This record gives sequence, structure tokens and C-alpha cells, in this order.
Amino acid sequence: MSLFNNSQVIGPPLKLSLKTRVTDGNSYRITVAMKLKNGIQQPGFLLALRFLALVFWSFPGARALDNGLAMTPTMGWLHWERFMCNVDCQEEPDSCISEKLFMQMAELMDSDGWKDVGYEYLCIDDCWMAPKRDSKGRLQADPKRFPGGIQGLANYVHSKGLKLGIYADVGNKTCAGFPGSFGYYDIDAKTFADWGVDLLKFDGCHCDSMEHLENGYKHMSLALNRTGRSIVYSCEWPLYMWPFRKPNYTEIRQYCNHWRNFDDVYDSWQSIKNILDWTSSNQKRIVDVAGPGGWNDPDMLVIGNFGLSWDQQVTQMALWAIMAAPLLMSNDLRHISPQAKALLQDKDVIAINQDPLGKQGYRLRKEDNIEVWERPLSDLAWAVAMVNLQEIGGPRFYTISIASLGQGMACIPDCIITQLLPVKRKLGFYQWTSDLKIQINPTGTVLLRLAAN
Ligand code: GLA
Repeated sequence: MSLFNNSQVIGPPLKLSLKTRVTDGNSYRITVAMKLKNGIQQPGFLLALRFLALVFWSFPGARALDNGLAMTPTMGWLHWERFMCNVDCQEEPDSCISEKLFMQMAELMDSDGWKDVGYEYLCIDDCWMAPKRDSKGRLQADPKRFPGGIQGLANYVHSKGLKLGIYADVGNKTCAGFPGSFGYYDIDAKTFADWGVDLLKFDGCHCDSMEHLENGYKHMSLALNRTGRSIVYSCEWPLYMWPFRKPNYTEIRQYCNHWRNFDDVYDSWQSIKNILDWTSSNQKRIVDVAGPGGWNDPDMLVIGNFGLSWDQQVTQMALWAIMAAPLLMSNDLRHISPQAKALLQDKDVIAINQDPLGKQGYRLRKEDNIEVWERPLSDLAWAVAMVNLQEIGGPRFYTISIASLGQGMACIPDCIITQLLPVKRKLGFYQWTSDLKIQINPTGTVLLRLAAN
């Protein structure tokens, strides 16, 4: 191994053995044998550890849906949390679910820098449909609210260099009571492809059995693939399955590009905390399965709305980056503060979310109301987020030993640390043996990037 034989070696070989599990269900043991140089063995040893880390972190998660999509988490806009099922265009023409709303958002995504930083999918949620299918059994958009039809809207969205997402349901009805796709999977997949749709969010309401739920999600995945159109497939399969039995994530990943696990996000700090708690409590089950082509979806970004303080918005952005979550904003791009816009468009944070290694982060520790999360990145870098969950008192100091980060390998033998949030600033050069002292606002987060020197 050329990495280690650049100088004379003496002494017994050191064997490092690492067992890992990859998607085909088999375990592989990698053994690296090396001899340490007398006197200066530490740097060589530490370099070897870094190399092993690279090997270890490069293993993919379970096999992904083979449609070549969502190689990094999907980015875009989704109407639900902010606009819900408002169908009253008479009384509320500016916030009802209509083609006008989506055309305005498309225009802003193009003109206000959203598309440039990666927000690409403009997604319709529930309540776009007419109450009945057409005479050929096809879904149709409400003709008053979408006079140009979904195809017309797709053309407009594509003309802005964006992609269009749509919503349907695996059961007999959507959650809001519009026609469900049960019994119509093939027709609906073809309709969406004919219209030029690029993403399907497939909900799981009104499904009468677990068997129908599972088979329905699989059937729609195959039907979408058969259309020949590239359509990102966003599922809620595990969310609806959890109350009855534990989802098989390896299987879900083979059919879906992302999947919701937990309750709908609300515009509140309690909701963000619940999502983070669920994620850390279940991280053993869900983290390893995420990777290019398939992601856990903790639901929409509610940054730019009403319910989160500035620090809480920082926490959502930082943690959604750590969790390799789809970044689907649900807000009003016509009325958004410059501060929220800058946070959502922060290129350094988006780069962590979109890191090509595609490893989801996890909670490393929780002590004294401080949570430390970390995520391995490409080029052996790490992202670290420290959240202050104490809701009494002011900003708190927290000291962490660098050696405890990144499985002990985030900063070997040293590294450069940059704080990305709440504001960007270079913290400088740190050694493996150093401590790092950080100040964190209540309910806020400090997001760091540790990179090789
Ligand atoms: C469910 C989903 C939400 C949204 C609504 C629409 O609750 O989880 O994300 O799509 O249905 O009715």
C-alpha cells in the first residue's frame, strides 16, 4: 500500500480491522496491515486512520431506487405548510391553491436567486385536483383554479428552468379528500409523465391495509419508471407504517427517492424539536440507509414564516444540512425577510446538505441540554452542529475536545475550523489535542466545518 511505504519501516505490523455492512446484506471485513516508523509513528498512524475513514465512509448505504435521481437531497419549494388546502380563490386570490400561486413562485425562484443556489423543484401538494376523475379515469386539475391545466403549468415552470412536482395518494382518497390513486396507479403515472411532471409526492392516507400500502408504493414506483420520464418519487410509506410495524428501510430505499418518517412539520419550535428528537431516537435504524438516490425526509423547511425565532430558524437550517434532508421550503417567496432569505440561500450550508459523499449525520451526544451532531463530508471534512436546547438564560458556553469529533478522526493531526452559522467566521487552526469553546444562543445552533489543513 503505497501510502505507507514512503520510508524505512521497522517494528511489528499493526493490524487494524474494520467490519462493515453494505447493502447486499453481507458483512465485509477490511484489514489493513502496516508497520510503524520508529520515532515518528504518530503522523503515519494518524494518516492511516484518515485513510481508513475514507474507505469506511465511502461504502454506500442500501441499494437505491435505480432512476438516477436525487443523487443529492432534492431542493425546492412545496406549498403545504404555508398554504395548506386553501381553495377559496374568491376570498383569498393571493393565497389559494391555483396556477397563479405557482407561477408567481416560479418567477421568484428564477429571479431572486433561489434557482441559482439549487432550489429547483416547485412542488404542488394536496388540493390541486377536481373532485372527480375525467371520463377516461384520469385525474384532472380543478378547472377554475388551474385553467391552463397541469401541463400548461409544467410548461411555464420548465420555461423558467425549474421542475414541477405534484401530489397524489396511494389510497382511496388524498388526505384532504380528493381522488386517491388506488386502482389507478398506471393511469396516474402515465398522466403525470404526459403532463411533464418531474416529481411525485405520494401520500398514504385512506389506505385500507398495510398490504395495500406497501404494494401501492411499490406499484407506483414501477409505474413511474415504466413511463420513461425522470420523476423523483417522494414517499410517506414509513410514516404510515410505523403505527403497525417497523418499516423495512432497505426495501423502501429500493423504491423511493425520499421518504417521510414522522409527523407533519408545523411552523413552531415544538415541531422542530419533535422532529429532531424522533430522528436522534431512531438514528440507528435510519441514518445508514440514506445516501445518493434515497434520503430520509424530515419534512419542509418553515424558515421565513411566523413561528420560529431567528435562532430557531438557524437550528432548522443547520440540522436539515446535517441530516442530509431534502430542502423543500414552504414559505411565501413574495414576502420573505432578507435575513431568512440569506439563511435559506447560504451556499456554505447548502454545500453541507448537498455534500456528494451523501452520508447522513447523527447526534453524537446530549449533555446538559446541549446536543452535538456531526456529519462526515467528502475530502475527509466534517460538519458539526451544537444546539443549545436550554430555554432559560442567555447564550451558553460549551467546550468540546476536538479529539471527540468525527469518530476521533475529524482533525488528524490538525484542521481548520470555520463557523458557518449563525454567522460565518474563521475560527482558525486547531490540533487534535485542542479544546474548542463555543457560545450558543438559547434554541440556536452553531454550525462548524472542520477541514484538513
Ligand atoms: C399529509 C402529509 C402532508 C400533506 C398533507 C396534505 O398530512 O403528511 O405533508 O401532504 O397530507 O393533505
